[in-house]
Amino acid sequence: MLKTIGQQQGRRSWAEPWKIKMVEPLSITSRKKREKALKKAGYNTFLLKSKDVYIDLLTDSGTSAMSDRQWAGMMLGDESYAGSINFYHLEKAVRKYYSYKHLVPTHQGRGAEHLISQVQIKEGQIVPGNMYFTTTRLHQEMAGGKFVDVIIDEAHNVNSDHPFKGNIDIEKLEQLIETHGADKIAYVSLAGTVNMAGGQPVSMENIKAVKALCDKHGILLYLDATRLVENAWFIQKREDGYQDKSIKKILFEFCSYSDGAWMSGKKDHLVNIGGWVAVNDDKVFDKLRNLVVVYEGLHTYGGMAGRDMEAMAIGIKESVKDKHINARIGQVRYLGQLLEDWGIPIVKPVGGHAIFLDAKAFYPHIPQDQFPAQTLAANIYLDSGVRGMERGIVSAGRDPKTGDHRYPKLELMRLTIPRRVYTEAHMEVIAESVKAVYDAREEARGLKMVYEPEYLRFFQARFEPVS
Ligand code: F0G
Repeated sequence: MLKTIGQQQGRRSWAEPWKIKMVEPLSITSRKKREKALKKAGYNTFLLKSKDVYIDLLTDSGTSAMSDRQWAGMMLGDESYAGSINFYHLEKAVRKYYSYKHLVPTHQGRGAEHLISQVQIKEGQIVPGNMYFTTTRLHQEMAGGKFVDVIIDEAHNVNSDHPFKGNIDIEKLEQLIETHGADKIAYVSLAGTVNMAGGQPVSMENIKAVKALCDKHGILLYLDATRLVENAWFIQKREDGYQDKSIKKILFEFCSYSDGAWMSGKKDHLVNIGGWVAVNDDKVFDKLRNLVVVYEGLHTYGGMAGRDMEAMAIGIKESVKDKHINARIGQVRYLGQLLEDWGIPIVKPVGGHAIFLDAKAFYPHIPQDQFPAQTLAANIYLDSGVRGMERGIVSAGRDPKTGDHRYPKLELMRLTIPRRVYTEAHMEVIAESVKAVYDAREEARGLKMVYEPEYLRFFQARFEPVS
């Protein structure tokens, strides 16, 4: 019997609930070519051309394969400037699965983050959240807010096997409210799963406790819904009382404890572009709907084509099916298991969308300001053409007040798995490359930053090897 992850009674418990109808060739390059390409890209995997990449694990954002139903939906795009039928399909899907009353579409997640931050944050207010995300925090700061991390301590420890490392620490949040007063809190920002912590989930018990605390003080609770379907899977597998509930039901219940959410549709929704912000309050909706016409487009398309909204509405329905999400996370866990079996240091437990390699454990000899995770991403690319990304000190950026690097505890390199794109054999190729780089870890040398953009520096920064 094959050794597979998630075996039940000797039988394989999951496989992809689809077959492949169309294929896209991959480009396999030589080491010499990769050396040239990486140098030209300033040792930043974001600056590589995709033609120079073999297996692309840069992100799971906008990289999903759409289904034949979604492609058929694209042909039904109603490209009217106002009142497109596709908008109403999308609105219906968000109401049905995510529970919210009002929908404002945006071109992608950060468009939605911009709108909600501008509408709900006043200069000097605090936004507590369960670990920062790059674009989320920047929009909160640009609206005059200050992000404060209130995630549980276990989230910052790569080896903690806490089943819900994305949880908010209720005591930390309570303390923050006590110190500053509820008026000073713009809203609580809760993401499930937590990207920067390794795709770690939040429990239903935790969101209920956060909601109760928010209600007590009259504070709003908004969700980053980007990977909430994945979060629902962890609740189903790990939380008492949810084993027999469908992903759909868990997702709806989770959202029902919040006042609204923003969404990067490019992840869970199985589309290549799009996002939204959705709320229950009529007045907040009015403000969002007014602002969307300034930055994104009319409130019935918000930066998306009609066809994109149709594909998204169909993608939402596909994404909440138990079989889909079992296979999606099953594949991520398969890769994680291979690496764990070989003793390679990764964030545990494996999260929903990616494997996060612990760069500090790979390269204890490289100081954090010589960018160990950036170095690791570069070395894996050089080894095999597999492209991942840095999620450590470069991503954390600088403190806006002091101008110093922020030194996050987690110095990680992310191998992000696109949905419905690669096969199990690809996972094995990836694991072999990571092992080869791990075996050669002592020879690795760090990097220095030679160009640093002002905002979200990880996207465009350039590096050179230290001499
Ligand atoms: N929130 C989370 C948790 C995200 O992971 C992202 C994007 C966003 C918001 C912003 O959405 O990209 O549509 O504007 N994450 C991508 C990633 C870029 O690779 O993790 P967006």
